[in-house]
Amino acid sequence: MKDTELVGVQKTLSPVLRTKALDNRLPDPILGDEYAEETMRRLDPGYDKRRFGTSQIGLAAVVRAKAHDDWARSFLAGCPDAVVLHLGCGLDARVYRIDPPATVDWYDLDYPSVIELRRRFLPAREHYTLIGSSVTDLTWLERVPHDRPVLMIAEGLVPYLTAIDVRRLLTRVVDAFPTGQIQLDTVPVWAWRTSKWDPTLRKYGTRFHSGFNDPAALADWHPRLEYVDEAPMNDSPVLMAKAPANIRRIYRLMNLMPGMRRSTRIVRFRF
Ligand SMILES: C[S@@+](CC[C@H](N)C(=O)[O-])C[C@H]1O[C@@H](n2cnc3c(N)ncnc32)[C@H](O)[C@@H]1O
Repeated sequence: MKDTELVGVQKTLSPVLRTKALDNRLPDPILGDEYAEETMRRLDPGYDKRRFGTSQIGLAAVVRAKAHDDWARSFLAGCPDAVVLHLGCGLDARVYRIDPPATVDWYDLDYPSVIELRRRFLPAREHYTLIGSSVTDLTWLERVPHDRPVLMIAEGLVPYLTAIDVRRLLTRVVDAFPTGQIQLDTVPVWAWRTSKWDPTLRKYGTRFHSGFNDPAALADWHPRLEYVDEAPMNDSPVLMAKAPANIRRIYRLMNLMPGMRRSTRIVRFRF
């Protein structure tokens, strides 16, 4: 089975999944996601055979996943009755990695064709619902309970949405729930502007639609929204401790270039 049923931006889930699969093969993985390795093998049995196929060059994406996992775990420890909105979930196995208690209701949302692939590759579980919809068609929000704390996670999603859609999403979520945490990642304006020439994005026939030089300022969009903090990615201690030496060298060099150290910003808000 291939991911040929996916089009445009939906295809961007595979490089992230591949990196998570390759991380799991490190002697001491950063994320340690067995589901990613298994799913990647089924999606593309030769994923590790091609040129650069076994290179962990994209390992920073795994750091991003781990940062989102760590924040999610600490939020759920304090709010075990929360509703989780995991938006643009792709084939990520976060719900299995975190394995929340039965008091948490978890929603994974992505385009219908991605959700269809998930159904084939990943097992069902209690208190876990799949929603096949564009995140920008906010009618999906009517399908989730609103009377509990919410945890909204958007990993690798926001750059593919316009700033108008991101604003609409954040304000609607804050308006809909009594309290919660929102965690997402953004790219800077330069990365958005140059994304039409990015070879990987071109290959998938997509590009970024937003960029933010100061993602903390997204909190200004709603009076109840408060910026909390940012997690490191390209220079994170875990990457420098666990990535193979050649990959660490590449990141050290890359991080010397202006803008590269913070070419993705992983940020957390609460309300
Ligand atoms: C880079 S992938 C990240 C996937 C997953 N979050 C991960 O980290 O492995 C981006 C994902 O966002 C999804 N996506 C992009 N725009 C979307 C939209 N408007 N509605 C729903 N999903 C969207 C894509 O289909 C894809 O699965």
